[in-house]
Amino acid sequence: MIKKTAQTVILLNFGCRDIQKFARAIRAEHIYTMVMPWTTPVSRVMQEEPVGLIICRDEAAAEHPAELAAFQALGLPCLVDSGLNAEAAIAFCKNQCGCQGLWTVDRFIEEAIAEVKEQVGDSTVVLGLSGGVDSSVTAALIHKAIGKQLTCVFVNHGLLRLGEPEQVQKIFRDTFDMNLVYIDATDRFLDKLAGVNEPEKKRKIIGGEFIDVFAEAAAATKAKFLAQGSIYPDFLESIPLDGNPNGVIKSHHNVGGLPENLKFEGLVEPLARLFKDEVRAVGRKLGLPEVMIDRQPFPGPSLGVRCVGEIKREYLRMLREADAIYLEELRASGWYGKTWQAFAAFLPVKSVGMLNGQRHYGYTIALRAINTSDAVTAQVVHLPWELLEKVANRIPAEVEGISRVVFDCTPKPPATIEWE
Ligand code: XMP
Repeated sequence: MIKKTAQTVILLNFGCRDIQKFARAIRAEHIYTMVMPWTTPVSRVMQEEPVGLIICRDEAAAEHPAELAAFQALGLPCLVDSGLNAEAAIAFCKNQCGCQGLWTVDRFIEEAIAEVKEQVGDSTVVLGLSGGVDSSVTAALIHKAIGKQLTCVFVNHGLLRLGEPEQVQKIFRDTFDMNLVYIDATDRFLDKLAGVNEPEKKRKIIGGEFIDVFAEAAAATKAKFLAQGSIYPDFLESIPLDGNPNGVIKSHHNVGGLPENLKFEGLVEPLARLFKDEVRAVGRKLGLPEVMIDRQPFPGPSLGVRCVGEIKREYLRMLREADAIYLEELRASGWYGKTWQAFAAFLPVKSVGMLNGQRHYGYTIALRAINTSDAVTAQVVHLPWELLEKVANRIPAEVEGISRVVFDCTPKPPATIEWE
């Protein structure tokens, strides 16, 4: 086994809601932290060869004195933190645990490459590449480790944004020279979605079809390993905070082992130890372009949940063009980076407009811009009126079929972030 990063500090979660932020703040000082629930057996904690322990709990949290005493008896430097005092924790790591700030992007990349090589050997690996940050960085990292032993599968389900399939192919096939299987399954998806209005039914069709298309393509590569872009919060949010399964924040589809319907020998998850901003730093270091690194989150069902009601090719064309204009203006004005998620939605609502002096009857585009820390609640971003006005003028003028643009000023709750 390759020794994981030296100088690990374990944060033992004795009931602390904000433990991810806390772990992240310590890692920003290049000190490697891992979060484990208070129910973790002492032997499991010791496997990581920690140089120190921090007991994290909110002031109201239950005590669990027996477990606390067991950790304290290990003879390791141990800090009991009830106030999430990152400064004190960092000082503890440096002064009591001897942490020298060895957790760097370069070091991570070096270790991750060695781990992937050791795990995979001469075998081949297949990865579902979506073009999102996590799968893109996973691809770049595994490719750096094993080159052409990796095959990426990119499925175009016909619900992608303007230029996305071309961009992904250009970057991964042309620039990185990766094995990339590009599957245009547009017809297969859109035929299945024809006439379907109900959001959950749309989601099920898109999700189910996606697994089928990907499974076929992945099987054809005959790869022994499946790679996934799961990141540390995916795992942390799947662990109960307090040992109680009801405490799980959200269960992630890609955590919990191999998908049953896929026959692989093992999973390769090189980002499993990283927080999102660390993933971005690794991506930058590996030479991925900034447009891939600074991407906002994009839902799995893609434009399928932003094309309200029935999905038609013509509606998707209007949505894509309008969304591209909105994103272009957001980037040009510097608001893209200040917004957690911003996108256009297509509403199949017709209203009267004016085009070239003529009466015009067209559809509606809704613009959304939100900020959030966890996607559970979200606030509407107060975009400058001039920016909105510019976008509202451009879309009906440039996108055939649209006569009206509205701004969605509903926070979450009561609305959700997506329209469906
Ligand atoms: P909502 O609309 O539930 O969205 O407020 C919260 C966050 O989750 C994303 N989202 C999804 N992501 N599959 C995904 O992978 C989905 O079905 C899905 N629905 C919503 C959404 O973009 C937002 O970031």
